[in-house]
Amino acid sequence: MNVRNNHHSGVGVELHNLNKNYEKNRAIDTLNLKIHPGELMSLLGPSGCGKTTTLKMIAGLIRQDSGNIFIDGFDVRDTPVHKRGLGLVSQNYALFPHMTILENVSFGLKMKGLKASVVLQKSLDMLKVVQLFELKDRYPSQLSGGQQQRVALARCFVVEPKVMLLDEPLGALDKKLRETMQIELKMFQRQFGITTILVTHDQEEALMMSDRIAVMNKGKLEQVGSPQEIYEHPLNRFVAEFIGVSNFITSKIVDIEERYITVEIEGQLRIKVLNNYNLLTFTLGQSVTVSIRPEKINIHQENSSAQITLEAILDEVMYVGSSIYYYFITAKGTKLITYQQNTSAQTFMLNKGVHIALSWEPDSMCLLVD
Ligand SMILES: Nc1ncnc2c1ncn2[C@@H]1O[C@H](COP(=O)(O)OP(=O)(O)O)[C@@H](O)[C@H]1O
Ligand SMILES: [Mg+2]
Repeated sequence: MNVRNNHHSGVGVELHNLNKNYEKNRAIDTLNLKIHPGELMSLLGPSGCGKTTTLKMIAGLIRQDSGNIFIDGFDVRDTPVHKRGLGLVSQNYALFPHMTILENVSFGLKMKGLKASVVLQKSLDMLKVVQLFELKDRYPSQLSGGQQQRVALARCFVVEPKVMLLDEPLGALDKKLRETMQIELKMFQRQFGITTILVTHDQEEALMMSDRIAVMNKGKLEQVGSPQEIYEHPLNRFVAEFIGVSNFITSKIVDIEERYITVEIEGQLRIKVLNNYNLLTFTLGQSVTVSIRPEKINIHQENSSAQITLEAILDEVMYVGSSIYYYFITAKGTKLITYQQNTSAQTFMLNKGVHIALSWEPDSMCLLVD
């Protein structure tokens, strides 16, 4: 990738008590979020949770009912769209139909009043980045949806905005190209240090690309944190279910210490779980949900020396190439899925119906509230 060496650090964006109703429907509910300069923050959540609305408010395309938006420390309430220093790629990337791809990409630079030779060089460089150099003389109608989307990205990148707002920018691309573009986009963003807010409903994309993720649900923030925090320490059941796959086990609290909670699973197994992450308060005898990721569970055919073991019967086996998914049922009817890496040359798979012991490290478990 051809990137010049003129690092400019992005600016911070701060959302303060934002609210937005569409008629009687609450689209955004008291949203507070700080995006640091140069950071890539993803807004992740199911369709209709308010991601696009949030982005449009930051862009100035719609106005919040109440609350404030600060860009680089300034309240932009009365700043029109084109004066906010933003690059926006929306879901319906409207290209200029009567301009070639090169003209589309050059447009913003020409508007900035740069020298023609500079405009041309920067535009051609950017077209190489998005792998559209060969198509530079075509018109938008002569490109596929995915190619048009890349033109929209190029048009945004080339002016080196202070903040990029990207609304599902890779949604229309097929899997392979999407993965390539995810890496390119991330490299580009990091090298230029452009503060970026990426809207996506794709949790893998969010995990891969983000410095931090803001998980949204029904117009509210559920959790904000690094990909690892969000994945390993979900605060509640919504986040644990939305990001990746989790096993949920109902359990009872049988002991409470300062930083540890002991839960009893299936009336037999007692596990001491660290409770320093979400600082929830519990009472003795309370029923809680614990979660455990499929890849954190080990399976044992023979007697195991592991501290925690739970007996289960293998109910279903799924071969997915890089790993094997096993679906177990415990004596009490709890269903548990585990992922085992397909590491050996001779693929080994357990047979349905086999009795097995499952184990995991206590610290792999999370205590959740619903
Ligand atoms: N122009 C509009 N008029 C009325 N309701 C809207 C409008 N735009 C969005 N909504 C509603 O606001 C909520 C949030 O929408 P949106 O921000 O587009 O969600 P997302 O981008 O997360 O899918 C949804 O319930 C949606 O139906
Ligand atoms: Mg949307």
